[in-house]
Amino acid sequence: MTRKKITILTLQEKKRRGEPITMITAYDYPSALAVDRAGIDCILVGDSLAMVVLGYESTVPVTMNEMTYHCQAVRRGAQHAFLIGDMPFLSYQVDRAEAVRNAGRFIKEAGMDAVKLEGGREMAETIRAISRAGIPVVGHIGLTPQSVSKLGGYRVQGRTAAAAQRLLEDAEAVQDAGAVMLVLEMVPDRVAEYISRRLHIPTIGIGAGPGCDGQVLVLHDLLGMFDRFTPRFVKQYANLLEEMERALTAYREDVIQRRFPAAEHSFTIDDAAWAEWMQELDRRGKAE
Ligand code: KIV
Repeated sequence: MTRKKITILTLQEKKRRGEPITMITAYDYPSALAVDRAGIDCILVGDSLAMVVLGYESTVPVTMNEMTYHCQAVRRGAQHAFLIGDMPFLSYQVDRAEAVRNAGRFIKEAGMDAVKLEGGREMAETIRAISRAGIPVVGHIGLTPQSVSKLGGYRVQGRTAAAAQRLLEDAEAVQDAGAVMLVLEMVPDRVAEYISRRLHIPTIGIGAGPGCDGQVLVLHDLLGMFDRFTPRFVKQYANLLEEMERALTAYREDVIQRRFPAAEHSFTIDDAAWAEWMQELDRRGKAE
């Protein structure tokens, strides 16, 4: 299949035509290759890597340097997908100049096409500053995992009339500040669909129902490579952790039972060279 590089214009056109946008997270070269070959529109190098790749309890500990390193690997694996680097906790909240500089690192050092950051109206000025620097920004509202302590846990957002109205206003503030896309996480389906219709930028849902312009999932949830917990909104398409354990146990057994390596995995030396070496060893043995 010959495919062109996906740009923000491709994604806007998909929204206009009512064609669903596909997005998935990836964190390294092989996962980016697989996602790209599957024809997925966007790769998010999510800060979820803190949990699913680095084993932390939350997304909070991951650093700018770690995110940059993973984005660089994804860049090398992806030819077509639109690439989004997720700004880690405290890389954009402290001061606007620092936010622009860190956003710039994702573009300049890691070859990302856009950055994502969490927050609604309180992040509008930061989104504006980063956009003014020529860097496309993807917003993220609803359940924002970097503020999970403030939100009191991983819970659905926007379930009352007042909370739904706040979400709509946040979505509009993010759009007005110049964001090019918006992630809606753990938002009731009708609220997400209403917001998606009101915005002219594409919305990407995760636990936000089918009415968004696109969908995103965490790769390790979809492939069954993270078994600490599985959110209700995840659809698991494979159980690779089980498959990896099966393969590794088989390898261990093969080594113990001397079934691996077999002849086809080994290299040979020709008979003449072997005989010559044996003679040499013999000669040296006699000389010692
Ligand atoms: O970090 C991440 O993977 C995300 C998605 C859950 C949207 O932000």
